[in-house]
Amino acid sequence: MAVIGRIREIKELDRLLASKEAEFLALYGRRRVGKTFLIREHFKKQFCFELTGVKDGTLKEQLVNFHQQLSGRSRKLRPLPASWQEAFQQLADHLGSLRGNGKRVVSWTNCRGWLVPARAFFRRWIISGMLSHPRIRG
Ligand SMILES: Nc1ncnc2c1ncn2[C@@H]1O[C@H](COP(=O)(O)OP(=O)(O)OP(=O)(O)O)[C@@H](O)[C@H]1O
Ligand SMILES: [Mg+2]
Repeated sequence: MAVIGRIREIKELDRLLASKEAEFLALYGRRRVGKTFLIREHFKKQFCFELTGVKDGTLKEQLVNFHQQLSGRSRKLRPLPASWQEAFQQLADHLGSLRGNGKRVVSWTNCRGWLVPARAFFRRWIISGMLSHPRIRG
């Protein structure tokens, strides 16, 4: 289904996609306004990983969910990560193993703070690991 409207938002998404750098986009808004739909539709070809937190999930449940999502996108067998640090390492490994030099889009849905414990790692991962990874850069 095509995205209706959202001209301004699409222009910004295209700018991020065309950029030579790794980019970070925080998208927020009321429920059901079309955040997930816009990202999924617009970045269809670039999507490499998507995670939505488990409602009120424990750390173990969030990591199992992460593991299932990553396993669904990668043929490589990886152990269940014991921590967010390990999980992000696995994600960086997965992204680095993909073919092509195009932009890769990772979507991280933190509904009502379900993934808050992962936030510190996410920030660190973006600042250091992801941006310095030779195959992930740009
Ligand atoms: N721009 C649009 N054009 C066409 N359909 C749309 C558009 N935006 C939203 N929709 C429709 O509305 C539905 C709900 O949108 P979506 O699930 O993306 O909302 P959301 O903002 O992610 O909500 P939540 O905060 O609950 O996760 C979509 O599945 C889609 O069918
Ligand atoms: Mg959504």
